[in-house]
Amino acid sequence: MPYNFDKIINRNNTNCIKHDAVSGFFGAENLLPLWVADMDFETPDFIQEAMQKRLNHPVNGYTYFSDSFYTSFISWMQKRHQYSVKKSWLKVTPGVLTGLSLAIMDFTKPGEKIIIQPPVYQPFFQLVESSDRVLVENDLIYENGNYKMDFDGLESCIDDETKMIIISNPHNPIGRVWTKEELTKLVEICERHNIIILADEIHSDIIFAPNIYTPIASISEYAKNNSVTFVAPSKTFNIAGLSTSLVIIPNEDKHKEFSALASRFHVFGASVFGSVACEAAYTHGGEWLDQLLVYLKANVEMVKSYLFKHLPSVKVVEPEGTYLLWLDFSTFNLNDEKLNRILIEEAEVALNKGITFGKNGANFMRLNIGSPQAIILDGLERIVSALKRYERV
Ligand SMILES: Cc1ncc(COP(=O)(O)O)c(C=O)c1O
Repeated sequence: MPYNFDKIINRNNTNCIKHDAVSGFFGAENLLPLWVADMDFETPDFIQEAMQKRLNHPVNGYTYFSDSFYTSFISWMQKRHQYSVKKSWLKVTPGVLTGLSLAIMDFTKPGEKIIIQPPVYQPFFQLVESSDRVLVENDLIYENGNYKMDFDGLESCIDDETKMIIISNPHNPIGRVWTKEELTKLVEICERHNIIILADEIHSDIIFAPNIYTPIASISEYAKNNSVTFVAPSKTFNIAGLSTSLVIIPNEDKHKEFSALASRFHVFGASVFGSVACEAAYTHGGEWLDQLLVYLKANVEMVKSYLFKHLPSVKVVEPEGTYLLWLDFSTFNLNDEKLNRILIEEAEVALNKGITFGKNGANFMRLNIGSPQAIILDGLERIVSALKRYERV
């Protein structure tokens, strides 16, 4: 059945961060919200129906994860990504960030070093620093309008205190889907130095063909035994508010350690509705996701061609996955703060400031394209009319 992603839904007054909290975050009213990473599409019918059915039962007591919950995820991974996951490898957490935080506490000690690769999802910085570990930044290399990992940099920033790396695959905010070859190289370096890999793969279902998502744990025996992977239906099916995510830990000892720490903090996963929604998503979501990907890809193309025509100084970093577009404003005659002010005060759009993803994000902006085309077009028109006069011609 064809799904209607053009439908515009008023999300105001639903306590949603993206719309209702925008003025608080940006200090201005009436901004078009194209920032925080959730989409403006309605929850797919098969998820709504599953939750509605559960709602018809009048009691909402403690819940546990049934076999069918796990089976739905295992078959999804097999069918969608040709990756075999065992139930004994899994753990449910209320969010990827909760899982990452637990894994940092579990597999490193205070004072040890953890590598991240900016520009990267802002909370990675804070997760490491707030747990008293030492943050090591191995910047991605930006070359000819695209990004690659700096393997020489990686090798040289590792010392005896370095115990972990956190990767984002696909990489938020730059949209790279790391190839098998790149991940193999990364794993080889980690193996040489006995580094544990935390792989945040929350965006792994949102991949534009012909790119292919490679789960880190599938790379080698070392990767399987020394990685912790975080996935969720939250980005894929736009149900981030239902707080359900999965952790994949194939190594039995590490799985036990992680489970023990999760138990210590009573982190037992999702709510009644999160679990029902997650199972419905992974059971019935294939066709919906196929259509979503076509729609998102059309949004990418629309942004590229609109900017190419009307504001060619903005360079769009070609996304291989995610619904987040990384826009390069570095050829404008503006500093980062001024660019941000123009976007807020003149264009009246709310985009994520590139610099919040790391120092090398200065003069970039992250645009969320997970909205009906009319909304994205409105955003583009606002950006072009405000920035046109600042172009260096
Ligand atoms: C790369 C990445 N990891 C984690 C999260 C947040 O995950 P959760 O809400 O499950 O903690 C996001 C949300 O934007 C994200 O983009």
